[in-house]
Amino acid sequence: MLGKSVLRLLGRTGASRLSLLEDFGPRYYSSGSLSARDDARDARAYFTTPIFYVNAAPHIGHLYSALLADALSRHRRLRGPSTAATRFSTGTDEHGLKIQQAAATAGLAPTELCDRVSKHFQQLFQEAGISCTDFIRTTEARHRVAVQHFWGVLKSRGLLYKGVYEGWYCASDECFLPEAKVTRQLGPLGDSFPVSLESGHPVSWTKEENYIFRLSQFREPLQRWLRGNPQAITPEPFHHVVLQWLDEELPDLSVSRRSSHLHWGIPVPGDDSQTIYVWLDALVNYLTVIGYPNAEFKSWWPATSHIIGKDILKFHAIYWPAFLLGAGMSPPQRIYVHSHWTVCGQKMSKSLGNVVDPRTCLNRYTVDGFRYFLLRQGVPNWDCDYYDEKVVKLLNSELADALGGLLNRCTAKRINPSETYPAFCTTCFPSEPGLVGPSVRAQAEDYALVSSVATLPKQVADHYDNFQIYKALEAVSSCVRQTNGFVQRHAPWKLNWESPVDAPWLGTVLHVALECLRVFGTLLQPVTPSLADKLLSRLGVSASERNLGELYFLPRFYGHPCPFEGRRLGPETGLLFPRLDPSRTWLVKAHRT
Ligand code: MSP
Repeated sequence: MLGKSVLRLLGRTGASRLSLLEDFGPRYYSSGSLSARDDARDARAYFTTPIFYVNAAPHIGHLYSALLADALSRHRRLRGPSTAATRFSTGTDEHGLKIQQAAATAGLAPTELCDRVSKHFQQLFQEAGISCTDFIRTTEARHRVAVQHFWGVLKSRGLLYKGVYEGWYCASDECFLPEAKVTRQLGPLGDSFPVSLESGHPVSWTKEENYIFRLSQFREPLQRWLRGNPQAITPEPFHHVVLQWLDEELPDLSVSRRSSHLHWGIPVPGDDSQTIYVWLDALVNYLTVIGYPNAEFKSWWPATSHIIGKDILKFHAIYWPAFLLGAGMSPPQRIYVHSHWTVCGQKMSKSLGNVVDPRTCLNRYTVDGFRYFLLRQGVPNWDCDYYDEKVVKLLNSELADALGGLLNRCTAKRINPSETYPAFCTTCFPSEPGLVGPSVRAQAEDYALVSSVATLPKQVADHYDNFQIYKALEAVSSCVRQTNGFVQRHAPWKLNWESPVDAPWLGTVLHVALECLRVFGTLLQPVTPSLADKLLSRLGVSASERNLGELYFLPRFYGHPCPFEGRRLGPETGLLFPRLDPSRTWLVKAHRT
């Protein structure tokens, strides 16, 4: 019975997902803009971060998770005309044994600890420009309603039964572990204690009567879902890992704890002696935000992209889709997985004293600078190591020197005395490469530049779709270098506005460079919103001209009018990104042997 309905459901899911993806695929004119069809698209998109545990203050890893989701949702908003069609949620995960124990250790009531740390996250995200539309706390009444309703649906579909669970539980990771995933670690006094093989956190043996979810029934439906949707989990290696996990046995899952042991949570409806397992509670946050159980949630589900760290893949790629299928719903459309930040090669932890405070970093490197660093250096497939010299070096070279220098070179009064977007001369830079004539000045490398920048928006969009934001930034940075090369090659400072021979070419060189800068500014908005705003304002690009749909790069080259030609530049507001002083004492120095 269940098998058949699951199968039917998967069939439907597959079809609707396909058409949605088709609608989502970016299409660009050759000049690098979104096509009219793409512009008209009104499909909804819902991005989520994991909700963060409130047992300790946020660190740069948490900020990284939120930034990835922020950049994806900002990029999505830039693609479409309707910002109302995008939602982006984050929040705090406040129940469970981990929080109950942390509050007891701190001598606080759990609500006090939750209020305090949740506020830290909210402040950090506000300072870091995280453009979430919703911030959820699992201690809110609306969430309790959603979780208890979801529980009721699973129960009514015969998927919960009572049984005895006996095994290892890791409170830090809030998960059950089979014997094979537990090892022994030596304590300071030579005594040994059991820990999780994966996380190294202590585990304890539990035996209690709980509600159990029939997870084992979902092994094949999950395999079919993943095989039918090869992009469901991105990057691909994580998709592969989940399929490998599903090759193994998938035991049923305990989804409640005795309330006498775990009181800090949502009670099982109709049975106060049991508290709902914190992961089931936490995962339902994604539905609470969009109004579940009211029907309005259906317009956002399953057009959902979950952004998560690799440590919580099993919960999102196995438990969550299984719960959803069990409740008669589709799995989320995309799960984007990222790796972790280490500090000088070590895992960040309070006990090692190497936790990097994101607020200090935002102050030191500016909000845009630190956002750029984390997103430019963070590679989803591998862990990344943090140290301060790396930040200074990257920001000085890419934002201050390359991008800031380029803007300065094209807008400085001595080179551009009229402070306008100069005219493009089609005789100096004909659209057909290889033409010769007395006024043709463009060289082969210049055509290569135009072609690189024209295809950049599409390349960037593809990298965003594949969750390779660092590659998108790498591509922008490479085009910035190419544009600097173009300016260097033609040395506009050696050309003379007064000379009828030089002037059209001088204007063209500046026009092309400004057009490139306009593309870079537009594409950098999801990552460095203020810096991009400063850049685009300096170029005189108005707010309504900053969408990807408006990004017609170098239209004069393609034979179209250019709305910017002859326009006054915006006011000069100082250096785009002031250089950082490398001689300052930093938080974290690289280890040198
Ligand atoms: N509360 C759960 C998530 C529930 S979602 C329904 C949780 N919280 S967490 O606070 O421990 O982690 C939140 C996110 O931060 C996860 O995506 C995790 O991978 C990420 N990070 C935690 N440490 C990190 C690094 N050192 N580096 C990068 N991201 C890291 O898990």
